[in-house]
Amino acid sequence: RVLILDFGSQYTQLIARRVREQRVYCEIHPCTVPDAFVRDFGAKGIILSGGPASTHEAASPRAPAAVFEAGVPVLGICYGEQTMCAQLGGTVEPSTHREFGRAIITLKEPSPLFEGILAPGDRTAVWMSHGDRVTALPPGFRPIAESEGSPFAAIADEARRFYGVQFHPEVVHTGIGASLLQNFLFKLCGVAGDWSMHAYREQAIARIREQVGDAGVICGLSGGVDSAVAALLIHEAIGDQLTCVFVDTGLLRYGEAKEVVELFRGHFNIPLVHVEAGSLFLEKLADVTDPERKRKIIGATFIDVFEAEARKLPNIRFLAQGTLYPDVIESVSFKGPSVTIKSHHNVGGLPERMALGLVEPLRELFKDEVRELGRELGLPEPFVQRHPFPGPGLAVRIPGAVTAERVATLQQADRIFLEEIRVSGLYDRIWQAFAVLLPVKTVGVMGDARTYEDVCALRAVTSVDGMTADFFPFEPAFLGRVANRIVNEVKGINRVVYDYTSKPPGTIEWE
Ligand code: XMP
Repeated sequence: RVLILDFGSQYTQLIARRVREQRVYCEIHPCTVPDAFVRDFGAKGIILSGGPASTHEAASPRAPAAVFEAGVPVLGICYGEQTMCAQLGGTVEPSTHREFGRAIITLKEPSPLFEGILAPGDRTAVWMSHGDRVTALPPGFRPIAESEGSPFAAIADEARRFYGVQFHPEVVHTGIGASLLQNFLFKLCGVAGDWSMHAYREQAIARIREQVGDAGVICGLSGGVDSAVAALLIHEAIGDQLTCVFVDTGLLRYGEAKEVVELFRGHFNIPLVHVEAGSLFLEKLADVTDPERKRKIIGATFIDVFEAEARKLPNIRFLAQGTLYPDVIESVSFKGPSVTIKSHHNVGGLPERMALGLVEPLRELFKDEVRELGRELGLPEPFVQRHPFPGPGLAVRIPGAVTAERVATLQQADRIFLEEIRVSGLYDRIWQAFAVLLPVKTVGVMGDARTYEDVCALRAVTSVDGMTADFFPFEPAFLGRVANRIVNEVKGINRVVYDYTSKPPGTIEWE
């Protein structure tokens, strides 16, 4: 396996992605881990990420010395290259010629790192993002590629197998990036490229057993794929020491609460506490129209209900969460505080209040890997492919006050929209699709009678990570069919509109 040490680059996660795509298992850890950690990790290769610091600033981060004593290949990327130079006896200086974006590099000397990719004299475009540059190489190093801004765009100490690149091989704009990482992994580190979800499952189970011993674990199910996969994995590891708690807010999609209960109790035979708290949530939400207040109320009520259930169970010492890799990186990164666009809801705060340990068996995985693990654990395909669904549920898809009646109306419209999407084979091409019930009444005519009812908006987007999104380009005939069905079949809706806004400037959810 490969160790990636994070110096705070926005691209660190991408490095891990690229390595995993080669079926090589890797983990990201902060650059501040102690030497003993590096020695015990047993990496076959180490990658040092980029980062925002300057090596000549006081207290800028350094790689643990053990990295260079482990006897394995090391690849320093950008800041990783600079700290490697600084630590091994070279010099790094602020540069007057900052390089950002596209740059052209020329290979100067043959190296296993570029074997089969570039021959000496060949040029290629890469993606740079740095202000400092290496001005003198440490003993043993030679320059192997140069760019206009730097004679040391790539450097190597072939004897020790230490490599540094000033550019970012992990971003798609560096066309040779994937091949370069392949050379590093397969030719230099000699790893096999045979990592699989099956192997991950075995490892994860062993780690869960070791962590929790004979203590009880509680896991909150949301109906989404992450918490379901976490629960299945933990159940496989410790059986009925796990109790799942499903706080049913009454704000889920049509039929989903029932599906979750049947899947866990019926299909998997996993103990499940189903807390039907719909009326409590509606009571707390009565007359609340401000989106942030709705979110805060739902989050707080959720924690109260969950905590009350947890306290009823004996011997619970751990809380299981379906935290994914992107969340982990987000919370350890060096980024400053960002503006709150929406308060996201989870069970944060509960572990401290109840003195619970955390079990997070998906911490190393990306969303598509969680889906693969779900399949590996026998989660039915429709569940595996399920679109993401926000914690505050349908409450943030009903602008204005939320009532039981409006929830029921929205559930019907949403069900019809998704049915049509499934029938047309579009479900898996869409990141999220849903209906929104607007607090706007319009006039219509049905039969010979005037109607005065609500407007329903349809939203469907494509996205890779939910951070940016674009509207899904349905055929007009498809939208016409859905609109027709909704107006005919759902009492209380007499008009349907489609949302063409991308993110940014819109968000995916309406509130
Ligand atoms: P927005 O609306 O901010 O949503 O573009 C981005 C993604 O996040 C989901 N979302 C949430 N997920 N708890 C969640 O677990 C929340 O409170 C929450 N709010 C939004 C949203 O559905 C989309 O996938």
